Amino acid sequence: MLSVRNLDVCFPPGYRGAEVHAVRNVSFDIPEGGRVGLVGESGSGKTVTCLALTRLLPDPPPPAVSGQVLFGAAQRDLLRMRDNELLEARRHGIAYIFQDPVASLNPYMTIGTQFRKLQTLRTAHRVHPAELLSQVSLPDPTQILDAYPGELSGGMCQRVCIALALAGNPRLLIADEPTTDLDVVTRNSILTLLRTLSEQRGMALLMVTHDLGTVAHLCDSVAVMNAGEIVEHGQVQRVFPHPTHEYTRTLLSAVPRIGDADNDA
Ligand SMILES: Nc1ncnc2c1ncn2[C@@H]1O[C@H](COP(=O)(O)OP(=O)(O)O)[C@@H](O)[C@H]1O
Ligand SMILES: [Mg+2]
Repeated sequence: MLSVRNLDVCFPPGYRGAEVHAVRNVSFDIPEGGRVGLVGESGSGKTVTCLALTRLLPDPPPPAVSGQVLFGAAQRDLLRMRDNELLEARRHGIAYIFQDPVASLNPYMTIGTQFRKLQTLRTAHRVHPAELLSQVSLPDPTQILDAYPGELSGGMCQRVCIALALAGNPRLLIADEPTTDLDVVTRNSILTLLRTLSEQRGMALLMVTHDLGTVAHLCDSVAVMNAGEIVEHGQVQRVFPHPTHEYTRTLLSAVPRIGDADNDA
């Protein structure tokens, strides 16, 4: 349902000095309802890849973006869509959740107001916000609708962001390190929630993470990024036990295991 073909992103020379060739000839596919993990160390180009394929990169200065991002049954190229088509794809096709849930909510509006603002943009698939909040396992939705983001915990804010993302009934949810700032118990319950929602709704998931455990927990396939390139791509069941690329082996060997001598405190 989403095919990224030869995506390339280069930022022009700016205040940081030289140009940055952040994404190099990246290709991967997300099947209908599939869950793909995009992994790699910090700075490897994961976020720029996701922002480029949804055309959310900062501009100006305009980065040079080339390649194709074919989306939906009609395989329309997102990179070449007109603004109104792109808006439609963002409203009902592709939703995005970010690493910092508190920062992605407006601190001056109650959660209920944020849902109402969003729903004036979206026409179809109106689901009551309280219903969406209960779908993301938040207790007492009516109380949460009256709350400001600052009155909720980080985990609750991330569940609210997921509920807001679900409001458009997306076919694909891009989650960019959505659990990095959360404690381990909250992280695991959010990951389980994302998997359940993907299964129940047949919604595809692009899970961006530097954590291979998250990929093992959640994804059917994995694309490994290093220095702007995808160095390995395949089914999790194949790649994890038998990585073919040196960089994937390095990432896998960096995962701590209980009982390893280095971890014994
Ligand atoms: N707006 C920008 N202008 C210039 N360089 C950028 C910009 N955004 C990201 N980069 C650079 O692109 C590279 C990839 O960044 P990013 O995709 O954020 O990495 P990741 O998400 O894998 O941690 C980094 O070297 C980063 O500094
Ligand atoms: Mg990132």
